[in-house]
Amino acid sequence: MANILVVDDERTNRAFIDNALRHRHDVKGVESAELALFTLREDPVDLVIADVHLPSMSGMSLLRRLSREQSDVAVILTSDASSVDDAVEAMQLDARDFLVRPLDPSKVQKAVEEALEARKPEPSEEDTEPVGRVFDGIVGRSRPMSNLKKLIQQVSSTDTTVLLTGETGTGKELIGQAIHRASMRSEEQFCAVNSAAFTESLLESELFGYQRGAFTGATANKKGIFEYADGGTVLLDEAAEMPPSMQAKLLRFLQSGEVRPVGAQTSRFVDLRLIAATNKDLEREVEEGRFREDLYYRLAVIPVHIPALRERREDVPDLAHHFVSVFSGPQKQIEGIDPDAMESMCSYDWPGNVRELENAIERGVALCKRSWIGLDDLPPRIRQQGALCSESENIDSLNVVERRHILKTLEKVNWNRSQAAQLLQISTTTLWRRLKEFGVESGTRPRAGRSLTHL
Ligand SMILES: Nc1ncnc2c1ncn2[C@@H]1O[C@H](COP(=O)(O)OP(=O)(O)OP(=O)(O)O)[C@@H](O)[C@H]1O
Ligand SMILES: [Mg+2]
Repeated sequence: MANILVVDDERTNRAFIDNALRHRHDVKGVESAELALFTLREDPVDLVIADVHLPSMSGMSLLRRLSREQSDVAVILTSDASSVDDAVEAMQLDARDFLVRPLDPSKVQKAVEEALEARKPEPSEEDTEPVGRVFDGIVGRSRPMSNLKKLIQQVSSTDTTVLLTGETGTGKELIGQAIHRASMRSEEQFCAVNSAAFTESLLESELFGYQRGAFTGATANKKGIFEYADGGTVLLDEAAEMPPSMQAKLLRFLQSGEVRPVGAQTSRFVDLRLIAATNKDLEREVEEGRFREDLYYRLAVIPVHIPALRERREDVPDLAHHFVSVFSGPQKQIEGIDPDAMESMCSYDWPGNVRELENAIERGVALCKRSWIGLDDLPPRIRQQGALCSESENIDSLNVVERRHILKTLEKVNWNRSQAAQLLQISTTTLWRRLKEFGVESGTRPRAGRSLTHL
């Protein structure tokens, strides 16, 4: 619970923010910047949310005073109108966010949590260093992805069943592999089975194996995946597609740890960790009677959700560059992606998530006649979305404006950080911190930095 001061001359605006936040935080309101300064002297807070347009002293002046005198207070500015100048100035003064009305309670909550989170001291390198090669091949430095990586590390020290949820192509299998690599079972087998790819009886013999003579064609004993992966991890993909009888058999296995091959008289114990994955809302499947509730609880001991790519757009450039290097080879050397192509990709919704992006880049590399992938090399639906977005008058979020402005400035001075900080009128420490937040590694100019200016 944090202490928050809302500065707005309109009572309804103060009430709106109070309503959005009071279930989690202690919120006070005042109607002018002068009153805010007075209150803060007596009663310091963690966060100030101030409107830019206040009578007499403006929100921007309040921010200026606070960043000079009380730099540990986080500030979020609100405004009725979107103005790039205001947003850039707010960024230079270290504001945490710039929210344009009409506000939406969930956006306010998100901005507040992020602002409060950013006040916390930076974790030491040791805390953030991933263990070994657990996250190899998993690209993404957005907040949702770093949270996911933290969760994987926590999950890996346990041996419980994990339920991975997320839309198609978000990387469920990739994350399942990472959980295995991070666990004590990493030296043992990891097997992935797609429940939807088999008929009911085939799935049973695939998982549990069969005995010679169990059915026509069973000419020898065959071990099932559960036995084969003994000691390791099994990822059961598309778990929601399992027919009811298989759900019952899986539940029995999870409760007893015993595997009985089809047609066999005896069973044996196997020790494995099960990870179930689904792109369906399994709770809803339970409600609608398609999935056993008892099995659901057994599987969802630790639920792990992988957000859709459109909820972490800041990962698009990194992923795109990653796939460019994956698909460009000696016969097709691609150096990067044109800024307008990157811009389109960043505003596209990616219903097929990372897999769709992967396919788009593979296609782009194949079609590309130059050394940079251009707008023309992208599938039409992605191109169109880019065009739509550039026509709209939508104001970018402060983060986007800020990032673009900083990276453009860095480009201008050839990535000389102190020169850039001077031009931006911020300290080199602030610049360094911002770059770190954007995922730009310190000391290096990003590969294909050209397109980073269009993040
Ligand atoms: N964070 C990431 N970094 C790099 N590659 C990724 C990432 N996420 C997904 N991919 C790649 O995208 C493709 C789809 O990922 P994956 O098969 O894990 O998705 P999924 O969620 O299991 O999809 P489905 O629901 O269709 O089974 C794979 O080629 C995978 O390597
Ligand atoms: Mg999958």
